[in-house]
Amino acid sequence: MIPADRRPVLITGGAGFIGCNIADRLAREGHDILIYDALSRPGVEANLDWLKERYSDQITPIIADIRDEEELSRAAREAKAVFHMAAQVAVTTSLTDPRDDFEINLRGTLNLLDALRLHGRPTPVIFASTNKVYGDLADLDFRLEGQGYAPPDEAVAAHGISEARPLDFHTPYGCSKGAADQYVLDYARSYGLPAAVLRMSCIYGVRQMGTEDQGWVAHFLIRALEDEPITLYGDGHQVRDILDVSNAVDAYLRAWQRIGHISGHAFNLGGGPANAVSLRELVTYMAELLGRQIDVRFDDWRAGDQRWFVADTRAIRRALDLSPAVPWRQGVARLAEWLCECRSLRTRPELVEAAQ
Ligand SMILES: NC(=O)c1ccc[n+]([C@@H]2O[C@H](COP(=O)([O-])OP(=O)(O)OC[C@H]3O[C@@H](n4cnc5c(N)ncnc54)[C@H](O)[C@@H]3O)[C@@H](O)[C@H]2O)c1
Repeated sequence: MIPADRRPVLITGGAGFIGCNIADRLAREGHDILIYDALSRPGVEANLDWLKERYSDQITPIIADIRDEEELSRAAREAKAVFHMAAQVAVTTSLTDPRDDFEINLRGTLNLLDALRLHGRPTPVIFASTNKVYGDLADLDFRLEGQGYAPPDEAVAAHGISEARPLDFHTPYGCSKGAADQYVLDYARSYGLPAAVLRMSCIYGVRQMGTEDQGWVAHFLIRALEDEPITLYGDGHQVRDILDVSNAVDAYLRAWQRIGHISGHAFNLGGGPANAVSLRELVTYMAELLGRQIDVRFDDWRAGDQRWFVADTRAIRRALDLSPAVPWRQGVARLAEWLCECRSLRTRPELVEAAQ
């Protein structure tokens, strides 16, 4: 249990999917929370309303942009810890507006780090980075095996991509998040800020407002529930190690708790080899879960798309002593159940069973 002093925890992007799940857990543990969010992602107001309803005395929203240096500095001054989630989150929109992506993801992160440096207190900060910092991994020479791509190297196939993999930023989003990731680590090195980085694979789960641009597991389920077609960009054999948000929240909280040991380090965080699934397999499972046919269409590959990404999670598991990840079928069933509830759809008994 993290000691609760009376200062609040700051969550930038706290109305977003991962941020609101972290806020929920922290508030349940008795912490006060500053939710700093520009509400720029459509639908996230619902997450903020949900938090305020549950914890009216503990949640203070600050509706502001991380590009606003002064406002962010004021929020950071009060904080006893920071979870930095706010971002332009999609590769697609980074390609259409790279300057906006840069300003939010890199300048916004620098605004936060420098505010903490200037306040002169060692406030722990955990940054939400991405596996996109490793690029498209094209050199691994993937082969199609059954429903999904796989690397021919047995050790990589067995364990996934470790933190030793060289950085290789692709797309403006990869560059802005990757540069921010490096700034966070360097503020630990140069200024002694207690800071760590979690490079995440695909996170999915309840309260995800998935769209075609980002949050694809929820997006696929939403499309299926609304009887709309799903477009797979590429051949659909791409493999991802998906992780339930409850496990991601565990990792963030542990990272704060153990910041004295892990400061200055970056860790890969995903579902690992046990939760690696191809897009096609996932759609097939969703159709079974929902008991309906899903209309799948195909389009060209998207820029920077990895044929396969599976995180080697051994380092983070060791450092943070994490429990095993929720099996992907169970987590996806839980998300489907939640999405059905939101739409007042009757859930199928098989679905409820799969979510247990
Ligand atoms: N979800 C994933 O699978 C995943 C994977 C890798 C990395 N990440 C990173 O994790 C973090 C959280 O992702 P998420 O899935 O919860 O996304 P999200 O879009 O649900 O949350 C991001 C939040 O940031 C807010 N925001 C955006 N621009 C802002 C700005 N300029 N100022 C203040 N607030 C702003 C949005 O309104 C939103 O509430 C992001 O940094 C993202 O890059 C997510």
